[in-house]
Amino acid sequence: MTQNTTQNRRLVLASRPQGAPVAENFRLEEQPVAEPADGQVLLRTIWLSLDPYMRGRMSDAPSYSPPVEIGAVMVGGTVSQVVKSRHSEYHEGEWVLSYSGWQEYELSDGTGLVKLGDDLEHPSWALGILGMPGFTAYMGLLDIGQPKEGETLVVAAATGPVGATVGQIGKIKGCRVVGVAGGAEKCRYAEEVLGFDSCLDHHADDFAGQLARACPKGIDVYYENVGGKVFDAVLPLLNTSSRVPICGLVSGYNATGLPDGPDRLPLLLGTLLKKRIRMQGFIIAQDYGDRIGEFQEEMGRWLKEGKIHYREQVTDGLENAPQALIGLLEGKNFGKVVIRVAQDNG
Ligand SMILES: NC(=O)c1ccc[n+]([C@@H]2O[C@H](COP(=O)([O-])OP(=O)(O)OC[C@H]3O[C@@H](n4cnc5c(N)ncnc54)[C@H](OP(=O)(O)O)[C@@H]3O)[C@@H](O)[C@H]2O)c1
Repeated sequence: MTQNTTQNRRLVLASRPQGAPVAENFRLEEQPVAEPADGQVLLRTIWLSLDPYMRGRMSDAPSYSPPVEIGAVMVGGTVSQVVKSRHSEYHEGEWVLSYSGWQEYELSDGTGLVKLGDDLEHPSWALGILGMPGFTAYMGLLDIGQPKEGETLVVAAATGPVGATVGQIGKIKGCRVVGVAGGAEKCRYAEEVLGFDSCLDHHADDFAGQLARACPKGIDVYYENVGGKVFDAVLPLLNTSSRVPICGLVSGYNATGLPDGPDRLPLLLGTLLKKRIRMQGFIIAQDYGDRIGEFQEEMGRWLKEGKIHYREQVTDGLENAPQALIGLLEGKNFGKVVIRVAQDNG
């Protein structure tokens, strides 16, 4: 993988997807790499994070963040290196967590950058287990889910960065953890490597029956990542006083309308009422941004103690980001999706 040091390649949003994104929704462009002015740094993207929320930014439907404009660089978290500095607080070679998006270089005045130091053992982890997805798992589960020893916790997208972390924290807290994932290989990994008590394939014809058998005492915490058929199977199993952190609904991100079938809203509301279930949505940065320190401290300790396993799916080359995002939304990823945009300078 070589990288041009005079041209900045960037992927912009060419058009808004109808349903699942396709390659034509993105356009690769080149422009000269800019020189930093006084008070600026030039950042080189080494790692780019791909995350399900990016599908939402491609759409102009109302949401908690504004959409990417047509022709603008796709948004995304990056781990970048300072390659030129005319900013008194940054020096060449240091690592930063940035929001540079899908491009190889970015000029920054330091706003929003998080210093990561000069020498990082696993730079890309700042986009995953030690970053936004790990933090999301931690706060959503502990603050909203409030798991207690001996309770049953169910989480889907169980081998992704959020789900895998939720389940492993659940085990640390003494829960019986049932994962839901797409396919036998992911389920085996959840049980054998992540230590879940059981993991079920949501593609199975009798998935709802399997889930009921795997949760003989019902479900006390359902950490919602996917919605759709998985939630339909979970709803009748929720116990009185159960908690449901609503983190994401990825099964519907490519949907163009409401699902078929009868109106299930009365069933949902009736179940919430009779069983006094607490359901709460959250957006990690907006709701918990001030608590990142407590997460980093505890997660750092768990990683050192070998209590948390972390898996990445690395794709080389910025030009391959569109296919990687399309695959992520279809469940083709196995672990946290990161794009290695360039090799680091060590
Ligand atoms: N609220 C927040 O602040 C916040 C922050 C970060 C992430 N999130 C949400 O957390 C969830 C997980 O994120 P992540 O980064 O860890 O993603 P991820 O697990 O790496 O990727 C999404 C996974 O969803 C599963 N999936 C896709 N379509 C599905 C379907 N129809 N039914 C069931 N599962 C399906 C696939 O896994 P399988 O093949 O295993 O089914 C896919 O790999 C997403 O909903 C995301 O939007 C929310």
